[in-house]
Amino acid sequence: MAFNNYCSKLCMQYRHRRRRYFLLNLFVITLCLCAIFPFKYHIFQLSPSKPLPRNSSFSDLLRKEMTLNCTGDPLTTWCAAEMKYCNSSLLIYKNLFFLTRSAILQTIHAEGKRVGGEQIQAVLNQAENDEYFHFKKDFLQIPCNASLPRGITLQYHLSKILSSITSYQTSANADLIVNESTIAVNRHDYANIYHTMTDLYTAYILCRFFQRDPKSVRILFLDAHPHGNLDVYWSKLFHSYSRLGHLKKYSKILYHEIIWAQPQAQSDIDVQRHRKQTPSFFADFRQHMLKQFHADSTATRTVNCESLQIFYLGRRNYVAHPRNPSGKVTRQLPNEKQVLETLQKKFSGYSKLNFTYNYFEQLPIEEQLQTIARTDVFIGMHGAGLTYVTMLKPNRALVELSGPSWQSQDHFQQLAIINQVRYRQCAIQDESPTVAEKIFDCTKEKVLELCPSIMT
Ligand SMILES: *[C@@H]1O[C@H](CO)[C@@H](O)[C@H](O)[C@H]1NC(C)=O
Ligand SMILES: *[C@@H]1O[C@H](CO)[C@@H](O)[C@H](O)[C@H]1NC(C)=O
Ligand SMILES: *[C@@H]1O[C@H](CO)[C@@H](O)[C@H](O)[C@H]1NC(C)=O
Ligand SMILES: *[C@@H]1O[C@H](CO)[C@@H](O)[C@H](O)[C@H]1NC(C)=O
Ligand SMILES: *[C@@H]1O[C@H](CO)[C@@H](O)[C@H](O)[C@H]1NC(C)=O
Ligand SMILES: *[C@@H]1O[C@H](CO)[C@@H](O)[C@H](O)[C@H]1NC(C)=O
Repeated sequence: MAFNNYCSKLCMQYRHRRRRYFLLNLFVITLCLCAIFPFKYHIFQLSPSKPLPRNSSFSDLLRKEMTLNCTGDPLTTWCAAEMKYCNSSLLIYKNLFFLTRSAILQTIHAEGKRVGGEQIQAVLNQAENDEYFHFKKDFLQIPCNASLPRGITLQYHLSKILSSITSYQTSANADLIVNESTIAVNRHDYANIYHTMTDLYTAYILCRFFQRDPKSVRILFLDAHPHGNLDVYWSKLFHSYSRLGHLKKYSKILYHEIIWAQPQAQSDIDVQRHRKQTPSFFADFRQHMLKQFHADSTATRTVNCESLQIFYLGRRNYVAHPRNPSGKVTRQLPNEKQVLETLQKKFSGYSKLNFTYNYFEQLPIEEQLQTIARTDVFIGMHGAGLTYVTMLKPNRALVELSGPSWQSQDHFQQLAIINQVRYRQCAIQDESPTVAEKIFDCTKEKVLELCPSIMT
């Protein structure tokens, strides 16, 4: 097997040792299982292998190969729930995500209508289902002379991929070899900054967990979404991305390491986690992102009360999604222009306040992030754009404008908490003539919290 080429002598010794343990485990567990569940289960299902005793040269090798970083939550819990199968060619973490080594992707077994990356105008109104592949048996193969784990439940696409796994005998016929670490991501959405940010964070902490340099890690999109303006995030934060649909010209691809990332809904900063604390490496994630886009990546908590930057993010119609061909967005202030004029007038009475506004829909990402990174008080209508609260400096403030139907949602408050940003929900009635006054008052409250004497 070509895999053996990558294996030093040490590695071979390690395998023999593992094998002895494996056989011992196998024997003991078979005895137990046969007593309890005769013939019902595969051995592997219940026997995650134990850590092996190793001498220092083994540990040196493995440290180079793979030492997990278990700092903070959730990484501590991921480390604690590692399960190894098939000579560590398959490792599953907390039934959330998994890693394969020396795996072969057989692209023909990913069935789908689209390849992904199309221009949006070419695929308007296509069904969402057309933007995903169906992963059939043999899609993923690993060098494993044993039955694979059964009865493990992973979510969404990962369960399909896990159950597609079969064994291969030789990788000599692979027509592409990818030596670099790869993270496979099945994006839920690609045009929405909230979904993108949560997915980006997942891929980023997976890099930190496995101690891989994000800028050397390849991203593999398992979805077939059209091209989107946010795709550039993936090539900036990581080495580059490719689309599974575009790799179909290769029938067998040997990947030395693929990390199969958990789906968006299981991101640690997804609002369903109801996080009350900053997760592992979040500050590093923010810094990494801002650096890649040449924005101020410092994280100073001290606010400059001689010149406080207040930024209002407006909303505009924009075609970014095949299933919203008009590009019409909801939750716009009907009289936004007038509200902004009033706000500008009111804030201009204070020499130390610098009130500005902008629209992000068609602004280069670099400019978006540069704007956010210098903002002290961030104002915007409830909507995905407020996800940028995660890129503010800590100890800044978010004023979320919400109409009656959104007031019960705490999504952006959660994201503010994660980034240690102060939060204020500002309930407004769209048509009310006093909207500008209300926004001014909400903002003033946060301004005075940051700089108590700035408006006197
Ligand atoms: C580690 O184990 C290998 C093989 O068993 C042996 O050759 C080597 O001397 C050991 N190294 C140490 C530091 O014990
Ligand atoms: C994990 O990462 C932190 C921060 O980079 C570092 O200080 C720590 O030493 C790492 N832990 C391990 C086990 O490498
Ligand atoms: C583990 O590796 C050894 C040596 O390469 C091999 O004989 C054995 O079949 C492998 N075990 C599994 C479960 O693949
Ligand atoms: C495991 O390897 C042996 C010997 O190479 C072979 O006879 C057997 O069919 C293999 N089993 C599986 C499940 O691949
Ligand atoms: C992958 O690694 C092998 C051996 O280290 C090397 O021969 C091959 O050229 C590498 N492939 C790529 C695409 O770098
Ligand atoms: C006010 O904000 C704008 C836009 O961020 C910036 O260009 C300008 O320099 C700022 N003015 C002051 C006085 O900080």
